Amino acid sequence: MVKILFVCLGNICRSPLAEGAFTHLVKQAGLEHRFACDSAGTSGYHTGELPDPRARKVAQQKGITLPSRARQLHRGDFYAYDYILAMDKSNLHNIIALKQRVAPDSNAHIMLMREFDPVKDANQEVEDPYYGDMEDFENCFTTVYRTAEALLDYLQKNP
Ligand code: 4NP
Repeated sequence: MVKILFVCLGNICRSPLAEGAFTHLVKQAGLEHRFACDSAGTSGYHTGELPDPRARKVAQQKGITLPSRARQLHRGDFYAYDYILAMDKSNLHNIIALKQRVAPDSNAHIMLMREFDPVKDANQEVEDPYYGDMEDFENCFTTVYRTAEALLDYLQKNP
């Protein structure tokens, strides 16, 4: 079983969308016995909250329900997950700093999620839509869904 944790800042916009997209693709492929995922935030600002209503709406339009409740990344995650995938470079920096402090012997692969994106751009980040509009959420969904497809493909080929 390969376990993937998607991580952003608040765990109410980008990482719940990535979790929802990946879960949807895994179910569609009948691979629930091989892959599990969750999402978390580097901050605890929104702990316990459902995803942002705009994220829920954009996912629902594609037939994906986002049931997650926001939680903060913690020490145990570095041992429970094989891949910890950051949405942006600030998240990545904070994840690595936390790992070095509380879980230095973790073997998790800590990377930007968009390292798996076949569409390359200058920074390979999933931009934060929180201060944006519905179009920003739609673009975010498109990016994480495409990247989740490539991620699942990669993980199937590189078990
Ligand atoms: P996320 O978006 O990291 O994609 O969940 C954000 C959500 C909340 C905040 C920032 C980004 N905030 O500052 O509260």
